[in-house]
Amino acid sequence: MSKVTHCVSVILAAGASTRMKSRRSKLLHSVLGRPLIHWSIDLAGWISDKIVAVVGHQKEELIAAIEPLNAENSFRFAIQAQALGTGHAVQCAWKEIEEVSTPESMVFIMAGDAFLLKRESLEAFVEHHQATKAQLSVMTFESRDPGAYGRILRNSQGQIERIIEKKDATADQLKIREVNSGFYLVNRAILQEALKSLDNKNQAKEFYLTDLVPFCRKVGHLVQTFLISEEEGLGVNTQNDLAMVTRIMRDRINEWWMLNGVHMQAPETTWIETDVQLAPDVTIAPGVLIKGRSKIQSGVQLGAYSVIEDCEIGESVVVEPYSHLHQAKVGAESRVGPFARLRPGAQLDRRVHIGNFVEVKKSHMSEGSKANHLAYIGDAEVGRESNIGAGTITCNYDGISKHPTKIGDRVFIGSNTSLVAPVEIATGAMVGAGSVISKNVPADALAVERADQRVIEQGAAKFRQRKSRG
Ligand code: UD1
Ligand code: CA
Repeated sequence: MSKVTHCVSVILAAGASTRMKSRRSKLLHSVLGRPLIHWSIDLAGWISDKIVAVVGHQKEELIAAIEPLNAENSFRFAIQAQALGTGHAVQCAWKEIEEVSTPESMVFIMAGDAFLLKRESLEAFVEHHQATKAQLSVMTFESRDPGAYGRILRNSQGQIERIIEKKDATADQLKIREVNSGFYLVNRAILQEALKSLDNKNQAKEFYLTDLVPFCRKVGHLVQTFLISEEEGLGVNTQNDLAMVTRIMRDRINEWWMLNGVHMQAPETTWIETDVQLAPDVTIAPGVLIKGRSKIQSGVQLGAYSVIEDCEIGESVVVEPYSHLHQAKVGAESRVGPFARLRPGAQLDRRVHIGNFVEVKKSHMSEGSKANHLAYIGDAEVGRESNIGAGTITCNYDGISKHPTKIGDRVFIGSNTSLVAPVEIATGAMVGAGSVISKNVPADALAVERADQRVIEQGAAKFRQRKSRG
């Protein structure tokens, strides 16, 4: 949607979020890895670059959370020191609104806790407001369970008269199912007049923004409503609401990826964050989480209950179930898992195999190398076609600092080996199982470090005899 000229967006984000029963402002709670306030800023930004955020409760944390989106330094913050109501919040923002607009401007006001509105609906709302020449437009929706939403009161001609909050409503008014979504468009000059008229004569003793409606009706300004779907109107007031909007947003994202060729075996269990990039023909088993800026190429299979965060995964990689990959790069045709852990800085080239209970951290494994069972590879450089046996540990930490391990091409490390870093095992070398290697091993050499084996003939039989005699 193109931005609307002469429009400013105001996001109300100063409330105390009491119904969340959490110490944190609800706008800092996260939906698919992003704080709620980011989602509402995206929405506000669809129609205007000029954004005024009203903050109060936990304002430092909120401003810090918003900063990453404010690259152009174009947002303004208005402070509402005391949460005296949604109308009071806009009063507190008046100076900022005035500074970034003209008297002919349109003001889009939204609560920071509702962000499921779709772009096309916002566009239609703006068009409707302009086409009907309304001074004030309110988005409403029909709610199955109107709960704490403000009810829309209409007169006998169907015209909106006012919005009545739950606390102030009569039993009959509570039955009304058409409610206020908290999205408004209002012409600036009217807003200025109306803000001056607000009072707090209601059960909550708050200055209600919803009282813009009766003010406009009284002085004869045209007020319009615009109906959206219930799903788009939902706001977050409780932890239950947070889970519900997360589910809706997750489903929208998953549906979009499926339309773009991603195969999800159980999309209702799949979690894909917004900055993830997936190619067509990625297959995702149940319970997979793909987070951060992960980029997954075509033909990749992600096994059940795997977690992938900020990773690059090349073509046709297979990640077996229950693997955890974080800030890792996995080359094409590699296999990882089940139960593997790739930690930050793990870089696997093509056709690398990392098997069960193998942990790789800040290490590079070149093409065709394998560590198939129970190993720790940290601060290591591994050449091509090398084999790291079961139970191999790079002892990279001496309690004070970290040291590197270098393993050349076609190296064979026997099972249960400790490689005490810094150490180098050169190309073509072999290390016998059970060795503790603390000195460099030259190319094509065989290193074995273990005590000679003693075999005592009949020793076991004699032992058993001694035991049975008691
Ligand atoms: C408000 C509306 C209600 C509507 C609902 C839609 C009023 C009086 N009621 O109720 O009709 O159905 O939204 O979601 O407007 N905030 C401030 N300062 C304050 C109070 C609130 O900035 O003093 C912010 C909050 O952080 C929040 C938003 O305004 O982001 C809405 O506040 P909230 O308390 O959730 O209002 P509702 O009771 O949901
Ligand atoms: Ca709300």
